[in-house]
Order: sequence, then C-alpha cells, then structure tokens
Amino acid sequence: MQYNADNTPLQHVDEWDEFVATRYRQGKSEEEFRDYKADANPTVTEFYRQNHAHQTLDFVLSKKAEYCGLNRDKKSIWEMAEYLNTLVDDSDPDTDLTQIEHLLQTAESIRKDGHPRWFILAGFVHDLGKVLCLYGEPQWAVVGDTFPAGCGYSDQIVFPEFFAANPDSKIPEYQTEYGIYEPNCGLDKVHLSFGHDEYIYQATRRYLPEEAQYMLRYHSFYAAHRHGAYRHLMNEQDERMFGWVRKFNLYDLYSKGRERPKTQEILPFYQDLVSDFFPDKIAW
Ligand SMILES: [Fe+2]
Ligand SMILES: [Fe+2]
Repeated sequence: MQYNADNTPLQHVDEWDEFVATRYRQGKSEEEFRDYKADANPTVTEFYRQNHAHQTLDFVLSKKAEYCGLNRDKKSIWEMAEYLNTLVDDSDPDTDLTQIEHLLQTAESIRKDGHPRWFILAGFVHDLGKVLCLYGEPQWAVVGDTFPAGCGYSDQIVFPEFFAANPDSKIPEYQTEYGIYEPNCGLDKVHLSFGHDEYIYQATRRYLPEEAQYMLRYHSFYAAHRHGAYRHLMNEQDERMFGWVRKFNLYDLYSKGRERPKTQEILPFYQDLVSDFFPDKIAW
C-alpha cells in the first residue's frame, strides 16, 4: 500500500486535538457545532481528507493484526510516557504543553472533581497510544475522529464528503446501514477506524475497570458519543458505558489551557497510582 500524498499535513498531531476542542467550545450552540468547517484550517481539512480516504476496513484489520497482539515492546507506563514525550516538533516550550503535561492536566482535573482513582488513571494514560506516530504511522492512522469501517458512513462524522475517495465507498456490501455487522451487535464487534484509542485500550485493558476501557477505546468516537450516531450497532452494555465516555470527554476537551501542572509536586501521587494498577512492564 502506498500513500504518496504528504502524510503529515498537521504541524503536530495535537493540532487535531486542538481542532476538536475548538469545534466543541463550551457555550456553542448545536447550530454552531454543525458549522465545524469554520474552525478547520487547510491543514486540518487536508488531514481529514487523508483520514477518510485511507481508513478502509482492510487497512483497519491489517493495523489491528500488526499492533493489537502487543508483541512489539515491553515497557512500563512511565517509559512509554517518556517515549511519547520525544514526539517533539517546533512547538514553543514556553507556552505549549508536553505530552506528559497534557496527560497530567487531564488527570488532575479529573482528580480535582473527586473521581475514583481508576478514572484519574484513565486520564493519565488516555493519549499514550499516540506513540503510533513514533512507530512511523501516518497522522491519519493515529488521530482523528474514529468511525466504523465496513458499514455506511454517518453524516454526523465531520467532512463526510471525503468518504467518496475511500475505496470502501465503492463496495455496496459495506455501504448499507449495517454493512458487515448485525443489528445491535455491540461495538466490541465493530471495527472502528484505526488510531491511538484502540492501541491504548488494547495495551491497558487487562489492568483497568470496564468503564475506563470504554473511555480509552472510544474517546475519539465523536459521532457516537457527542452526536448519537451508530446506536443501531450498540448494545445495552455500550449504551450504559457511553455515559462514562461522555463524562471523560469533558476532561479531555476542557482541561487544556489551564495552568501548567506542577509536575514535580504531583509526581509521587501518579507513581503510586500507576503502580497500584499496572505491573512494572506491560506488553505494547
Ligand atoms: Fe486522544
Ligand atoms: Fe487527549
């Protein structure tokens, strides 16, 4: 497979996160949410063009086979966080947060609201899957709103017009409402576009409660958790658990831009937290 267009339209993968945070700015009306194009600059638009064109069912299955067996590496959570921190760019060290600071900022705002330890921990690890960038994956295979492959595309997904360039859109079997899936089969059976959500879910699932697993696995599935799309594929368990996904999303979106976390001060708390749930090294 080759993708000859430049695979790095975003200056940094976090440019996608910033777009989403702007898209769902607090105080916006439903009407304004639908006008997301007003918030998308040309690089973000190009990023979605690539993401929607290249995330085919075949691609998703091949990436799951490549990464979800977790036989690439053995690292502690901290080693992975340090590794993710090497994802540097030309960002401004005085104003831009490092990857670890974004994770701590998310976790700290969860902690301040008195949520349980596993919830805080979900905040701390939720974006570690972005190391896929360091493995050489293109931006469109790491970040972006996730969506089911192998069935019709919801018009609740941003830039739905870009799906016309996806080879799956020419396969009639994949374009019905249910596509290759059964009604209300449950999201565990549905192949979402590949990215950092699925990877961190797979790496951490044995160590975290189910609510946290849902938060990690579906945090970029905006069409479903923000707009209620794809309920015909969800089962009762998904419906219940999506309450937690929505709760988590507020912290992912709205803890940015708060003050820089006092890393040295809070580190002991996070060291205890991580070692309460995780063994020294886990498979990645
Ligand atoms: Fe994320
Ligand atoms: Fe995040």
